Amino acid sequence: MNKKIKKILFKKNKTKIVCLTAYSKNIAKILDKFCDIVLVGDSMANVLYGLKNTHTLSLKNIIQHTLSVKKGISKSLLVVDMPKGTYQNVKIAKKNASLIKSLTKCDAVKIESNNKNFQIIKELVKSKIPVMGHIGYTPQFKKNFKIEGSTGEKLKKLNKEALKIERAGAFSVVLECVAPNASKTITKSLKIPTIGIGSSSYCDGQILVTDDMLGLSGFYPKFVKKYLDLNKMITKAVKRYTKEVRNNKFPKKNNFLNVTRIR
Ligand code: KIV
Repeated sequence: MNKKIKKILFKKNKTKIVCLTAYSKNIAKILDKFCDIVLVGDSMANVLYGLKNTHTLSLKNIIQHTLSVKKGISKSLLVVDMPKGTYQNVKIAKKNASLIKSLTKCDAVKIESNNKNFQIIKELVKSKIPVMGHIGYTPQFKKNFKIEGSTGEKLKKLNKEALKIERAGAFSVVLECVAPNASKTITKSLKIPTIGIGSSSYCDGQILVTDDMLGLSGFYPKFVKKYLDLNKMITKAVKRYTKEVRNNKFPKKNNFLNVTRIR
Protein backbone atom coordinates (compact mmCIF):
# COMPACT_ATOMS: atom_id res chain seq x y z
CA MET A 1 0.00 0.00 0.00
CA ASN A 2 1.10 3.58 -0.83
CA LYS A 3 2.92 4.94 2.29
CA LYS A 4 0.96 8.22 2.17
CA ILE A 5 -2.34 6.31 2.22
CA LYS A 6 -1.15 4.20 5.18
CA LYS A 7 -0.45 7.46 7.04
CA ILE A 8 -3.98 8.72 6.32
CA LEU A 9 -5.56 5.47 7.55
CA PHE A 10 -3.45 5.61 10.70
CA LYS A 11 -4.92 9.00 11.63
CA LYS A 12 -8.42 7.58 12.22
CA ASN A 13 -9.42 8.09 15.88
CA LYS A 14 -6.09 9.84 16.55
CA THR A 15 -5.72 13.15 14.70
CA LYS A 16 -7.96 15.04 12.31
CA ILE A 17 -7.21 14.80 8.58
CA VAL A 18 -6.85 18.17 6.87
CA CYS A 19 -7.78 18.52 3.19
CA LEU A 20 -8.26 21.36 0.71
CA THR A 21 -8.73 21.64 -3.03
CA ALA A 22 -6.20 22.98 -5.56
CA TYR A 23 -6.34 23.53 -9.30
CA SER A 24 -2.86 25.01 -9.88
CA LYS A 25 0.78 24.86 -8.77
CA ASN A 26 1.11 28.06 -6.72
CA ILE A 27 -1.84 27.29 -4.44
CA ALA A 28 -0.84 23.59 -4.22
CA LYS A 29 2.64 24.58 -3.06
CA ILE A 30 1.17 26.51 -0.10
CA LEU A 31 -1.38 23.78 0.78
CA ASP A 32 1.28 21.07 0.62
CA LYS A 33 3.05 22.56 3.65
CA PHE A 34 -0.03 22.15 5.86
CA CYS A 35 -2.51 19.64 4.40
CA ASP A 36 -2.65 15.85 4.56
CA ILE A 37 -4.65 15.60 1.33
CA VAL A 38 -4.87 17.94 -1.67
CA LEU A 39 -7.82 17.26 -3.96
CA VAL A 40 -7.98 18.35 -7.57
CA GLY A 41 -11.74 18.67 -7.36
CA ASP A 42 -14.19 18.81 -10.23
CA SER A 43 -15.53 21.88 -8.37
CA MET A 44 -13.11 23.62 -10.74
CA ALA A 45 -16.01 23.49 -13.23
CA ASN A 46 -17.94 26.06 -11.14
CA VAL A 47 -15.06 27.83 -9.44
CA LEU A 48 -12.60 28.23 -12.34
CA TYR A 49 -14.60 27.75 -15.50
CA GLY A 50 -17.79 29.47 -14.32
CA LEU A 51 -20.00 26.54 -15.39
CA LYS A 52 -23.38 26.03 -13.72
CA ASN A 53 -22.52 22.48 -12.65
CA THR A 54 -19.70 19.92 -12.84
CA HIS A 55 -21.30 17.80 -15.55
CA THR A 56 -19.37 18.91 -18.60
CA LEU A 57 -15.87 19.03 -17.13
CA SER A 58 -13.61 16.87 -19.30
CA LEU A 59 -10.91 14.35 -18.49
CA LYS A 60 -8.49 16.64 -20.35
CA ASN A 61 -9.41 19.57 -18.03
CA ILE A 62 -8.79 17.54 -14.88
CA ILE A 63 -5.51 16.06 -16.16
CA GLN A 64 -4.22 19.48 -17.25
CA HIS A 65 -4.88 21.02 -13.82
CA THR A 66 -3.48 17.98 -11.98
CA LEU A 67 -0.22 18.30 -13.94
CA SER A 68 0.03 21.87 -12.64
CA VAL A 69 -0.94 20.93 -9.02
CA LYS A 70 1.54 18.02 -8.99
CA LYS A 71 4.37 20.51 -9.52
CA GLY A 72 3.51 22.07 -6.14
CA ILE A 73 3.12 18.83 -4.16
CA SER A 74 5.89 16.99 -2.38
CA LYS A 75 4.41 15.51 0.81
CA SER A 76 0.60 15.58 0.71
CA LEU A 77 -1.58 12.82 -0.73
CA LEU A 78 -2.72 13.96 -4.17
CA VAL A 79 -6.28 12.86 -5.01
CA VAL A 80 -7.97 13.58 -8.34
CA ASP A 81 -11.71 13.73 -9.03
CA MET A 82 -12.93 11.61 -11.93
CA PRO A 83 -15.30 13.83 -13.96
CA LYS A 84 -18.89 12.79 -14.65
CA GLY A 85 -19.14 10.32 -17.52
CA THR A 86 -15.58 9.02 -17.15
CA TYR A 87 -16.46 6.00 -14.95
CA GLN A 88 -19.88 4.79 -16.07
CA ASN A 89 -18.74 1.15 -16.21
CA VAL A 90 -15.75 -0.90 -15.06
CA LYS A 91 -13.98 -0.92 -18.43
CA ILE A 92 -14.27 2.86 -18.98
CA ALA A 93 -13.40 3.61 -15.35
CA LYS A 94 -10.26 1.46 -15.48
CA LYS A 95 -9.13 3.03 -18.74
CA ASN A 96 -9.67 6.61 -17.55
CA ALA A 97 -8.36 6.15 -13.99
CA SER A 98 -5.19 4.49 -15.37
CA LEU A 99 -4.76 7.40 -17.76
CA ILE A 100 -5.13 9.96 -14.92
CA LYS A 101 -2.73 8.04 -12.70
CA SER A 102 -0.06 7.35 -15.32
CA LEU A 103 -0.07 10.86 -16.82
CA THR A 104 -0.24 12.84 -13.55
CA LYS A 105 1.45 10.48 -11.06
CA CYS A 106 -1.33 11.27 -8.56
CA ASP A 107 -1.82 8.99 -5.55
CA ALA A 108 -5.55 8.25 -5.85
CA VAL A 109 -8.80 9.08 -7.63
CA LYS A 110 -12.14 10.10 -6.11
CA ILE A 111 -15.43 8.88 -7.50
CA GLU A 112 -18.90 9.98 -6.49
CA SER A 113 -21.26 7.24 -5.38
CA ASN A 114 -24.62 6.68 -7.03
CA ASN A 115 -25.29 3.79 -4.62
CA LYS A 116 -24.55 1.38 -7.50
CA ASN A 117 -20.94 1.81 -8.59
CA PHE A 118 -19.29 -0.35 -5.87
CA GLN A 119 -17.93 -2.86 -8.41
CA ILE A 120 -16.11 0.00 -10.15
CA ILE A 121 -14.33 0.88 -6.88
CA LYS A 122 -13.48 -2.81 -6.36
CA GLU A 123 -11.96 -3.20 -9.82
CA LEU A 124 -9.96 0.07 -9.61
CA VAL A 125 -8.52 -0.97 -6.24
CA LYS A 126 -7.72 -4.40 -7.69
CA SER A 127 -5.79 -2.64 -10.46
CA LYS A 128 -3.76 -0.78 -7.79
CA ILE A 129 -5.59 2.52 -8.20
CA PRO A 130 -6.52 3.76 -4.71
CA VAL A 131 -10.04 5.20 -4.49
CA MET A 132 -11.68 7.80 -2.27
CA GLY A 133 -15.48 7.52 -2.19
CA HIS A 134 -17.98 10.40 -1.97
CA ILE A 135 -21.51 10.17 -0.54
CA GLY A 136 -24.29 12.49 0.60
CA TYR A 137 -24.74 15.41 -1.76
CA THR A 138 -22.98 14.20 -4.91
CA PRO A 139 -23.14 17.03 -7.48
CA GLN A 140 -22.54 14.68 -10.45
CA PHE A 141 -25.70 12.70 -9.66
CA LYS A 142 -28.01 14.93 -7.58
CA LYS A 143 -29.77 18.09 -8.62
CA ASN A 144 -30.69 19.55 -5.23
CA PHE A 145 -28.14 20.95 -2.83
CA LYS A 146 -29.66 19.68 0.44
CA ILE A 147 -28.89 17.94 3.73
CA GLU A 148 -28.58 14.16 3.33
CA GLY A 149 -29.29 11.41 5.90
CA SER A 150 -31.45 13.53 8.17
CA THR A 151 -34.17 10.97 8.98
CA GLY A 152 -33.74 7.49 10.49
CA GLU A 153 -34.40 5.64 7.22
CA LYS A 154 -32.18 7.95 5.17
CA LEU A 155 -29.39 7.64 7.75
CA LYS A 156 -29.57 3.83 7.57
CA LYS A 157 -29.43 3.92 3.76
CA LEU A 158 -26.44 6.29 3.75
CA ASN A 159 -24.61 4.19 6.34
CA LYS A 160 -25.18 1.07 4.20
CA GLU A 161 -23.81 2.89 1.16
CA ALA A 162 -20.70 3.97 3.12
CA LEU A 163 -20.11 0.40 4.34
CA LYS A 164 -20.38 -0.94 0.78
CA ILE A 165 -17.80 1.64 -0.36
CA GLU A 166 -15.48 0.52 2.45
CA ARG A 167 -16.00 -3.15 1.55
CA ALA A 168 -15.23 -2.37 -2.09
CA GLY A 169 -11.78 -1.23 -0.93
CA ALA A 170 -11.90 2.59 -0.80
CA PHE A 171 -9.35 4.10 1.60
CA SER A 172 -11.60 6.98 2.70
CA VAL A 173 -14.93 8.58 1.93
CA VAL A 174 -16.07 12.18 1.58
CA LEU A 175 -19.37 13.02 3.33
CA GLU A 176 -20.87 16.08 1.66
CA CYS A 177 -23.80 17.91 3.36
CA VAL A 178 -24.53 14.92 5.60
CA ALA A 179 -26.61 15.57 8.75
CA PRO A 180 -24.51 15.65 11.96
CA ASN A 181 -26.16 12.53 13.42
CA ALA A 182 -25.58 10.56 10.23
CA SER A 183 -21.94 11.76 10.04
CA LYS A 184 -21.42 10.57 13.61
CA THR A 185 -22.95 7.13 12.93
CA ILE A 186 -21.12 6.61 9.64
CA THR A 187 -17.77 7.75 11.09
CA LYS A 188 -18.22 5.29 13.97
CA SER A 189 -19.25 2.37 11.79
CA LEU A 190 -16.42 2.70 9.24
CA LYS A 191 -12.81 1.60 9.72
CA ILE A 192 -11.69 4.00 6.98
CA PRO A 193 -11.64 7.77 7.60
CA THR A 194 -14.56 10.03 6.72
CA ILE A 195 -13.78 13.49 5.32
CA GLY A 196 -16.57 15.99 5.85
CA ILE A 197 -17.70 19.04 3.95
CA GLY A 198 -20.78 20.62 5.48
CA SER A 199 -21.09 17.47 7.60
CA SER A 200 -20.21 18.62 11.16
CA SER A 201 -17.11 17.93 13.25
CA TYR A 202 -17.93 14.23 13.82
CA CYS A 203 -15.98 13.30 10.66
CA ASP A 204 -12.35 12.13 10.82
CA GLY A 205 -11.24 15.02 8.65
CA GLN A 206 -12.46 18.14 6.88
CA ILE A 207 -12.27 19.49 3.35
CA LEU A 208 -13.28 22.86 1.92
CA VAL A 209 -12.99 24.34 -1.55
CA THR A 210 -9.96 26.62 -1.18
CA ASP A 211 -11.45 29.48 -3.21
CA ASP A 212 -14.47 29.47 -0.85
CA MET A 213 -12.44 29.58 2.39
CA LEU A 214 -10.22 32.31 0.95
CA GLY A 215 -13.26 34.43 0.10
CA LEU A 216 -12.68 34.46 -3.64
CA SER A 217 -15.44 32.29 -5.13
CA GLY A 218 -18.55 34.21 -4.06
CA PHE A 219 -20.10 30.89 -2.91
CA TYR A 220 -20.47 30.90 0.86
CA PRO A 221 -23.07 28.47 2.23
CA LYS A 222 -23.36 28.21 6.03
CA PHE A 223 -20.74 25.46 6.29
CA VAL A 224 -18.03 27.56 4.66
CA LYS A 225 -15.89 29.63 6.99
CA LYS A 226 -14.17 32.51 5.20
CA TYR A 227 -10.64 32.65 6.60
CA LEU A 228 -9.74 35.58 4.35
CA ASP A 229 -11.51 38.10 2.15
CA LEU A 230 -9.29 37.67 -0.89
CA ASN A 231 -11.85 39.32 -3.15
CA LYS A 232 -11.53 42.51 -1.10
CA MET A 233 -7.72 42.30 -0.99
CA ILE A 234 -7.36 41.75 -4.74
CA THR A 235 -9.84 44.54 -5.48
CA LYS A 236 -7.77 46.93 -3.35
CA ALA A 237 -4.49 45.96 -5.08
CA VAL A 238 -5.97 46.20 -8.58
CA LYS A 239 -7.51 49.61 -7.79
CA ARG A 240 -4.16 50.89 -6.54
CA TYR A 241 -2.30 49.59 -9.63
CA THR A 242 -4.92 51.13 -11.94
CA LYS A 243 -4.58 54.51 -10.22
CA GLU A 244 -0.78 54.45 -10.29
CA VAL A 245 -0.60 53.55 -14.00
CA ARG A 246 -3.11 56.27 -14.89
CA ASN A 247 -1.23 58.84 -12.79
CA ASN A 248 2.13 57.74 -14.17
CA LYS A 249 3.27 56.65 -10.67
CA PHE A 250 4.08 53.13 -11.88
CA PRO A 251 6.55 52.05 -13.16
CA LYS A 252 9.10 54.13 -11.25
CA LYS A 253 12.77 54.55 -12.14
CA ASN A 254 13.64 51.59 -9.87
CA ASN A 255 11.37 49.35 -11.97
CA PHE A 256 13.18 50.26 -15.20
CA LEU A 257 15.39 47.50 -16.60
CA ASN A 258 19.04 48.10 -17.24
CA VAL A 259 21.48 45.83 -19.02
CA THR A 260 22.75 44.09 -15.86
CA ARG A 261 19.69 43.38 -13.69
CA ILE A 262 16.25 41.96 -14.49
CA ARG A 263 15.30 40.73 -10.95
O1 KIV B 1 -14.91 18.84 -6.31
C1 KIV B 1 -14.66 19.09 -5.13
O2 KIV B 1 -14.04 20.11 -4.78
C2 KIV B 1 -15.13 18.13 -4.12
C3 KIV B 1 -15.09 18.55 -2.70
C4 KIV B 1 -16.19 19.50 -2.43
C5 KIV B 1 -15.12 17.40 -1.78
O3 KIV B 1 -15.57 17.09 -4.46
